[in-house]
Parts: sequence; structure tokens; C-alpha cells
Amino acid sequence: MRASVIANRDYVISEIDNRIYGAFLEHLGRAIYSGIYEPDHPTADKNGMRADVAELVRGLDVPMVRYPGGNFVSAYNWEDGIGPREQRPTRLDLAWHTSESNQVGIHEFADWCETVGTQMMLAVNLGSRGLEEARNFVEYVNGPTGSYWGDLRKKNGRADPWYVKMWCLGNEMDGPWQIGHKTADEYGRLASETAKALRAFDSSLELIACGSSHSNMPTYPEWERVVLEHTYETVDHISLHMYSSNYDKHTPGYLAHNVKLEAYISTVAATIDYVKAKKRSNRQVTIAFDEWNVWYHSRKQDRAILDGKHGWPHAPALLEDIYNFEDVLQVGCCLNTFIRKSDVVKLACIAQLVNVIAPIMTEPGGRSWKQTTYYPLYFASMFGRGRALNLVARCPSYEVELIGEIPYLDVAGVENEAEGTLTFFLVNRNGEEELDVELSLQGYRDARVLEHQVMTHDDLNAVNTAANPDNVAPRQGRGAVAEEDKLSVSLPPHSYQMVRVSVARG
Ligand code: AHR
Repeated sequence: MRASVIANRDYVISEIDNRIYGAFLEHLGRAIYSGIYEPDHPTADKNGMRADVAELVRGLDVPMVRYPGGNFVSAYNWEDGIGPREQRPTRLDLAWHTSESNQVGIHEFADWCETVGTQMMLAVNLGSRGLEEARNFVEYVNGPTGSYWGDLRKKNGRADPWYVKMWCLGNEMDGPWQIGHKTADEYGRLASETAKALRAFDSSLELIACGSSHSNMPTYPEWERVVLEHTYETVDHISLHMYSSNYDKHTPGYLAHNVKLEAYISTVAATIDYVKAKKRSNRQVTIAFDEWNVWYHSRKQDRAILDGKHGWPHAPALLEDIYNFEDVLQVGCCLNTFIRKSDVVKLACIAQLVNVIAPIMTEPGGRSWKQTTYYPLYFASMFGRGRALNLVARCPSYEVELIGEIPYLDVAGVENEAEGTLTFFLVNRNGEEELDVELSLQGYRDARVLEHQVMTHDDLNAVNTAANPDNVAPRQGRGAVAEEDKLSVSLPPHSYQMVRVSVARG
């Protein structure tokens, strides 16, 4: 099977905001406890943080990490996580039916972010709490000493403000499962008044209002319209969430999922434009896709804990999806979507980062390893920075019920002008046939292959484990040929590839 792709240096979608390669850590399951934090672990640093995990996180060069939730934040008291650890209360976490020891709070998380070289993106509780607590939290984190919250932060060991820019105004407030769930009007009003107060403190904050939890939500996309009508002049982004699943084990349908993701983004972008026009506004709100990933492998086994059958355990295994090779293709396609939609998606967070639906897994007290999905994220984060090109691809397609015609090839291309490189991320959705791809690099010359990485496996269900961590891993590709302004690559059935070429312009 053959495909052709035109990459023209003048056909540009957007400069990519590197924050589309962000991640998320919630006080949920073992994400924090025995994930990033485990004071008794042999690799623990002076703050009790696992150095083996920090190294794997650093490997992804994650620009920012959203924290502390998720559903957890909607009944969280941030004050429980400050001050002497032995005095911090253990609370019941209503979102996940567990106990929260509060041994990790904002100070510990901030120190960890410094260790791994990432920025904080924080969420305030607009579920069980409101404007006042949100304002206090922001002042505690960013306020000057010489005022109440700044002085308390100093007393707790940190004199300098952290100057966190990105703030989520609640989490998934459209979801009936959310503690403090609201209608779009109720939430829109609260978000707008909270944003006003936070801006009175610091007008340069980047504020994110909740959009839909999924495009299957009954309130989508009316939710976005109503919320934006309340908040258009006071927020910077509207947040979207979406998880992919393959319960019926239908790979062609599963791999078509990012076409839905793309339509979801386009619809919300259109809704933003509608509200912008209606308000006669000059402001441009954009999208923060701050939860996305595959989530379904663990759903059944978690039921008993979520239903309270185990009482209130502290940091039990929850949402521990073990990803397979098929999920590499899915995550690769989703990342391609974020590159192709980089004109409107300015932030995105893979949910989550460690143990909980995550690319990194740990054993309590033991080993840590890369899940299969670590790799497409790694390649995109490392090499998908620069300018997204508006590729024109021609390729045979297949039909998926309720979605439509799906091309076998999913491709995104990024130019890094400073480095003189073009990078292509390619997925062959076809499980039967190889796909020969001819890329025409218009406006470039002297193309030379710098790197070619391939992920393929004869078993879609193959996984990585602590004992066999490299079962699904990239290998050096062969047979990519670059010449002048042409590049050709062959994609084996069901494969993910990254090809980087150096080019001169002209
Ligand atoms: O990431 C897991 C959960 O998914 C988050 O807590 C919530 O925001 C979403 O429903």
C-alpha cells in the first residue's frame, strides 16, 4: 500500500507551545505515595522522593505537571498539606474512597518539580470550596512575605514565592461524579468571579476554566458555550479531557479514536470563536487539553475499592493500566493530533505520569520501568518542538461506523528551523499491509536522515513489566532514504515511527 505526503515549508499550522507535552499527577492510588514519594525506598533523596522515578520523569523533559487533581481536588483542603508533617491530618478522600495522609503537599511537590526540572500547573478546589480558599491558595503559593499567607509559607520553609503561572479553576465541574458538580451557569459564574479575584492579585496569571470531561458528555458542547459566555474576558484557556478505550477489542475502531479527538478540538475551537464574536472581543481563548490518555485496562479491577468494599485504604493500586503495544499506536496518534491542532491547543497533559494510567510504573520498595506508551511521548516531547507543518497526505482509508473514513496513515510533521531539521511521526493503522510513504519536502534541499526509530511488535497485547521492561521498545529503523527534497519510508503493519532529517532551506 502506498501513501504520499507533501510537507511545504510555507504551509505552517503554528509554532508549537511545548506545554502540549505536559503531564499530570493526582493524589490518587500510588501516583504520589510509592510513585514519586517513598521515603523508605533505597533511591529516596533527602525529601523522600524516589530518584529512580525522577530520572525516568526527567527523561521525558515534561514542561509542566498538573497537580493535585483531578477529582481529588474537588474535596481537597490544600492547607492540610502544609506545616510539620507529623501534625498533618489524615483525611478521607471522597473521590477515590481512600485515605489521604497529606505527607506530600505543595512544598514537597514544588521541591520535586525543581528536582525533575518542570513547572507546576496547580488546580484550585471549586467543588466543595470556592473563591476564598482559591484566593488563599494562590496567595500562599505566589504572594510576597510581609502578608499573612506569604509569611506562613516562609514559616513553613519557603520564603520566595514560587510564581506559579498556570491555575486550573476546578476540575471536570460538568461531571455528575464530581464533588460539588455544577450546572454550566453555576460554574461559569463561580469561575468568572474566582478569576476576577485571582487577577486582582496578579493579572498575569494564566487561568483555565473547565470545559467538558469528554465529548460524550450530554452537556457537550453547550457547556463550553455557556461557561465561555461567563468567563471569556477573564480566562486564558478552556480545559478539555478525553480518554480512549478498546473494550470490544476492535483495533481498527480503537485506532480511529483520535479522529474523534480532532473533531472535539475543532468543535470547541469553533465555540470559542462563536463566543469571541458574540462578545466582540479581541481576546483569544485557547484550549488546555489537560487530561488525555488510554484508560480502560484497569477499570473493572478498581470497582471494589471505588465502591468502598475495602474501607478507606491509603494509596492502594488504582487505575494501574498496564499498556500494551496497541496503546503505543493510540498514544502516537493522539500526540499527532495535538501537533496538528497546535494552533488552538496550547497546553496538554498526559494523564497521568506515575503508576496511575501512566507511562512510568513502580513497585513499592522495588523497581521502576517504562510502560510501552513512554516511548511515543518521549519522541514527541524530545523532537516535536518547533513549527507544526500543515501536511497534505494522500492515503487509502477504511471505514469505521459512527466515525467515517479513516486514513491508514496518521502523520504529523515538525520543522525545527534553528536546528535545520524536519521530524515526522508516522503511524500505520493497517495491521495487514506495509505502507510505503513518499514525502515531498517542498522548499527544502539536501535532506539527510539523522534518526529513524521504529516501534512494532507481532503481538498487539505485548506489555512491559518489571521483569521484562524492554519487551516493547523502539529500535533503529532501516530503509528510510532521503535525497535532495524527497524522503521515503516503509511502515510495517501496525507500526509507529519517528524519522528526523536534516535539511537546508531553499
Ligand atoms: O485521571 C483520572 C481522573 O479522570 C481524574 O481524576 C478526573 O479528572 C478524570 O475523570
